[in-house]
Amino acid sequence: MSELAEPLRPARVVEDPTAYEQLADFSCGAGDAAWESHVDRVVGRLYKGEAIPQTLVVLEDADGRLVGVCSFWLGDLMAPLFRTPIRDAPYINVIGVDRRFHGARLADGSHPGDVLLRGALAAIHGLHGYRHVFALVAPENARAHALFARHGFGEVSPLKEGRQALRIRPPLPV
Ligand SMILES: CC(C)(COP(=O)(O)OP(=O)(O)OC[C@H]1O[C@@H](n2cnc3c(N)ncnc32)[C@H](O)[C@@H]1OP(=O)(O)O)[C@@H](O)C(=O)NCCC(=O)NCCS
Repeated sequence: MSELAEPLRPARVVEDPTAYEQLADFSCGAGDAAWESHVDRVVGRLYKGEAIPQTLVVLEDADGRLVGVCSFWLGDLMAPLFRTPIRDAPYINVIGVDRRFHGARLADGSHPGDVLLRGALAAIHGLHGYRHVFALVAPENARAHALFARHGFGEVSPLKEGRQALRIRPPLPV
């Protein structure tokens, strides 16, 4: 595990991911879990300009090393607990901390994923205002569930085995 150089730089939106070279080496896992490979694949596509359009937020440490990525787009949230679908709700497509920093903690005790998700939510609020934000997470992905739970995302179970759980955050300030 690498040491984080603090203070981390403020999380920021990267307008042109194809020009952000650190994406080429990004990896959020050895690929043992499907979600790690998925995040790495999306990041690779963003760097090659082959991804579905989405907003990319990056978090760097004080030395400019890429700590993590989070991307989102607007989608329709068909949540079972609402009367009607919620249109144009920010959907977090991927979030990943580079594997060099897995298990790392900031001086204040928080995880890098916390700073990254807070930064992504701030970017969402800045661009789209306060809205419901949602994500889909494999039931077995305990570390991602813990992260979303720490940031006010409620949990809706999948109906069938093999499907993903829905995490929904109400329109609140970060
Ligand atoms: C989800 C994620 C962003 C959370 O990052 P984070 O909040 O900064 O925290 P970490 O995952 O590094 O660490 C969380 C805990 O798991 C532990 N951990 C770290 N690496 C681990 C590993 N390879 N296996 C098991 N546990 C691990 C940490 O020690 C930490 O434990 P602690 O809370 O007792 O200190 C990060 O785990 C990640 O990038 N995962 C792969 C991508 C992914 O699953 N994305 C979500 C779906 S899109």
